[in-house]
Amino acid sequence: YRRLRVALLGAGAVGSQVAGLLLRHADELADRAGAALELAGIAVRDVDAPRDVDLPRELFTTDAESLIVGSDIVIELMGGIEPARENLLLALNSGADVVTANKALLATHGTELFEAADQVGASVYYEAAAAGAIPIIRPLRDSLAGDRVERIMGIVNGTTNYILDRMDSEGADFAEVLADAQRLGYAEADPTADVEGFDAAQKAALLASLAFHTAVPLDAVHREGISEITPAMIEEARAAGFVIKLLAVCERLDVDGAESISVRVYPALVSRTHPLASVHAANNAVFVEAEAAGSLMFYGAGAGGIQTASAVLGDVVSAARRHIAGGVGVGESTRANLPIVPIGHVITRY
Ligand code: HSE
Repeated sequence: YRRLRVALLGAGAVGSQVAGLLLRHADELADRAGAALELAGIAVRDVDAPRDVDLPRELFTTDAESLIVGSDIVIELMGGIEPARENLLLALNSGADVVTANKALLATHGTELFEAADQVGASVYYEAAAAGAIPIIRPLRDSLAGDRVERIMGIVNGTTNYILDRMDSEGADFAEVLADAQRLGYAEADPTADVEGFDAAQKAALLASLAFHTAVPLDAVHREGISEITPAMIEEARAAGFVIKLLAVCERLDVDGAESISVRVYPALVSRTHPLASVHAANNAVFVEAEAAGSLMFYGAGAGGIQTASAVLGDVVSAARRHIAGGVGVGESTRANLPIVPIGHVITRY
């Protein structure tokens, strides 16, 4: 097989699992990709930090730039805006395809990265940026490209679903279950991102952009978190036949005859008979309603290192196949921007 040089940036919960699987399944991945995926190195801040997976020490470096230049595929799992953004621009401009799970970066600088990729004919893959292991980016971008998505209702944050689920099933205390979610590795480094809906809002912006073929800036997403949800509210919802879920709702609206969209994240009342009500623990689910396809539901692990690594490796195989085929970049098909309705908290029962 032709050898492709793969650079990994970051070795946290997801990164260390990606490295472990790349090494462990090297032969199988080569057969599937049609190229040997050679892990050239792993750029980290601290070479000696403890890792979830035992990896050869000689792979680690603190010099991300030297690792990136000359690589065919760059996997960015460091998180945060900088230096992730600069590293990915360097990767694209050096001729690499990039794979990232960085929803914060994509939701704020996605257009810049996609344009940089277009200019050099490279691709940005980001299946792992929304809903962990669940395939949802490709289905929205590719499988449903011939349909018209009307609405998405997603449970796209594992931490808050885990917290609400335990508050609902055990009457557990918010602070105590948040600590458990952190211990289990679901929560972001700063759990405010989960609890206050920032993480879900970033994912909602990504999903809405793909579903409606328009650029949805993060600041157009209405956002409320779950920190104000009390056991009494959960009890009251239950008595009325509902469960409270933090939903990302992306939908088309007709405002005075003009086509518009609304993208919002908030604790919503979901009927206990709705499929989304059965999403427990840190699982995620994305319920998609499309004109021709009808209702579809994508369900699975929305957080967790090895689960999210599955989506990253799928992207690496896709990138490798495209790379050796010498294909052109997978562009984002956006058309004229749709107006985004600044809706506040809509009392809707699903
Ligand atoms: N903190 C995120 C969550 C991780 O809880 O869903 C996956 O993006």
